Amino acid sequence: MFKNTAIVGAQFGDESKARITHDLSKNYDWVIRWAGGANAGHTIYRKGKKYVHHLLPSVNWDYNTKAFLSLGMAIDPEELLNELIEAEKDFPGVSKRIYIDPAAVVVFPSHKEKDRLTNSIGTTNKGIGPAYQEKYARAGFDFASCIYGSSPTSNLIKNIIDMGVQFKSVYEMLPVFHNSKLLFEGAQGVLLDINHGTFPYVTCSDTTLSGIGSSGFSSLLNTINVIGIAKAYLTRVGSGPFPTAIDDENIENDIRLKGNEFGATTGRARGTGWLDLPALCYACDMSAINEVILTKFDVLFGMESVKVCTSYKMPIRNGKDLIYAVPNYAEMQGWKDSNDQNLFDFILFVNNHLMNNTIMKTKVSAFTSGLKDEDFHIID
Ligand code: IMP
Repeated sequence: MFKNTAIVGAQFGDESKARITHDLSKNYDWVIRWAGGANAGHTIYRKGKKYVHHLLPSVNWDYNTKAFLSLGMAIDPEELLNELIEAEKDFPGVSKRIYIDPAAVVVFPSHKEKDRLTNSIGTTNKGIGPAYQEKYARAGFDFASCIYGSSPTSNLIKNIIDMGVQFKSVYEMLPVFHNSKLLFEGAQGVLLDINHGTFPYVTCSDTTLSGIGSSGFSSLLNTINVIGIAKAYLTRVGSGPFPTAIDDENIENDIRLKGNEFGATTGRARGTGWLDLPALCYACDMSAINEVILTKFDVLFGMESVKVCTSYKMPIRNGKDLIYAVPNYAEMQGWKDSNDQNLFDFILFVNNHLMNNTIMKTKVSAFTSGLKDEDFHIID
């Protein structure tokens, strides 16, 4: 029914969006990033090799898919150049398949310095806040205004162009996009969204479907199937409310180690918690998520029981209210492997909860383990 797809983080980021995007990308002409910048840490595995990237979309470059970095992003040219050089080593000529909207905001070294000096909420120090701050104060520089001149930034951008990257606005590209299959790749998650997240403990971009619209794709919004990605548990990195944080240090550590829950951008240990269904329902409705893919169920293998938050003592009115949320839990029997009936009961439980508690009538359409591609289960 839908021609295009968006992959949205339905939690606090780090839900394995990159892996899903990478797997799906071969079926699409374009993979488009619409939010954030090098604060994102996207990890994928290809032929046994681990790749971590921050700005380039998670395209499987073995196919003909191209990439577009939209104007909703804040892009650090230095980081981008490094990523292009890395990508060229395995995929010579790949830079020619990468397009950037010249209206995307440029992140300067001064933004990163300011981020480091003013960081009060545990940001990634990638200059994201200060760069967007200038944009919304109508003072920031976009790529179009930095290309000419002889500043260090202009030279970096010239190098990027010399590698073959093309600068094209979304308006110029719309005829192409309307005739192509598009996969939109989200960064961070709905609970970190500037408008709908746990403000002020949020990032500075629009991580929901509406960010795709404001990046210039409004004419395509009704063609997009929105898939939310959520882990079978929850993690959060940086400060801010985390109602289902696990208070048992052993369980918390166990999940962190098994799930390799350390920031791909900063290396910070992520806090771990139980799956939070009210927060997930909220994320689904705030980003028009039609279906959810549950990831990393294998991290919980061997646990005697698994908790799931099914409601809060007081309902929330918005993301900010998570600071007051006190969870009520259901306790479910743990599972030992991918064929365990207890795992299927858990998936069914999550599915029924989402269907009954979201305006979107969101369903669970698939579930997948952490790393093994073959352990991907589609629900009919
Ligand atoms: P900033 O985006 O670097 O300004 O950081 C703001 C908040 O978002 C901090 O709590 C970060 O830890 C969090 N954050 C930003 N990017 C990511 C991400 O890719 N995954 C998880 N958390 C993130």
